[in-house]
Amino acid sequence: MLAVKVPKQEAEKARRKLIELGVLAKGYAIRREGEFILFPLIEPVEGFELVEADFERLEKRPHSYREVVEVPDEVRPLLPSSFDIIGDIAIIELPKELMPYGKAIGEAILRVHRHIKAVFAKGSKVSGEYRVRELIHLAGERRTETLHRENGIRLKLDVARVYFSPRLATERMRIFEKTRPGEVVFDMFAGVGPYAVLLAKKAKLVFAVDLNPWAVRYLEENIGLNKVDNVVPVLGDVRKVAGQLKADRVIMNLPKFADRFLREAMLSVRDGGVVHYYGFGPDGDLFSEHEAKIKTVARELGLGVEFLGERKVRPYAPRQFNIAIDFQVLK
Ligand SMILES: C[S@@+](CC[C@H](N)C(=O)[O-])C[C@H]1O[C@@H](n2cnc3c(N)ncnc32)[C@H](O)[C@@H]1O
Repeated sequence: MLAVKVPKQEAEKARRKLIELGVLAKGYAIRREGEFILFPLIEPVEGFELVEADFERLEKRPHSYREVVEVPDEVRPLLPSSFDIIGDIAIIELPKELMPYGKAIGEAILRVHRHIKAVFAKGSKVSGEYRVRELIHLAGERRTETLHRENGIRLKLDVARVYFSPRLATERMRIFEKTRPGEVVFDMFAGVGPYAVLLAKKAKLVFAVDLNPWAVRYLEENIGLNKVDNVVPVLGDVRKVAGQLKADRVIMNLPKFADRFLREAMLSVRDGGVVHYYGFGPDGDLFSEHEAKIKTVARELGLGVEFLGERKVRPYAPRQFNIAIDFQVLK
């Protein structure tokens, strides 16, 4: 095919020019010939030395595992279009009809996404106090520990032993943007520290509590990994710590049970401090049940509350959303 021949040292400039002119042929490997580089063309172009040359076709890389996975036609429409990626581990939710093809699905994911080293299927819902789920190994390494990057921090964690959702990254950044220098933050359900370590980059001090010993082990490691020296990790039930500090900002990232800890949150915030409350709500009436609970607890404690903002964080189940309510406590 027709090609442009340029000296090696002019290759990058020529490549940009050919792209700009829209004449560079796509899908071919660029060739090297001694001190020259050859670019394939779709049509002749002026101002360059033109030659005839053969080019190797580049393999078209699939974008989705669904393009390469082999499953019977009748279950193909059930293949999920997305899955979670935590570090180099993929976690996919498969309907039971697809479970017999789990290995093929896992291997297809590994083939298409080269940075993924292990694939697991969700084996249960998130449950228990630690909010963890069972995982079923599908393909790749039988390893559940990984290093995840999010919002400029690094988080080491074990996906089988602690709760972690990469889908909350944007929400965590939202809270980071609200945090002001000098603040004392109380992260009531800290996990491995995605809020605590991030907010420590801005706040004066972050108290980070969790009941799960594995979560606190990783939290401590993540404090070191990210070189923050203003996070106080606490292993234990947050009820034992609550009320002993007066924070400017409280984070209640335990959507399933946060309502049970409203008293502790309100007692731990200073006058005018802000609580970030999370819950689940049905589409159509996302917030009212939670607002009512917040008002009731405030009334019982003789406190005032002012609602600052409410938002959907992410879909949780059919017609159910993970929601966030920000409110200020007036003492
Ligand atoms: C939904 S996870 C959130 C973890 C973390 N904030 C994140 O964004 O990844 C809730 C965490 O609360 C912890 N937890 C549950 N009950 C608790 C309690 N009573 N006291 C302290 N931590 C608790 C669980 O172990 C779990 O790590």
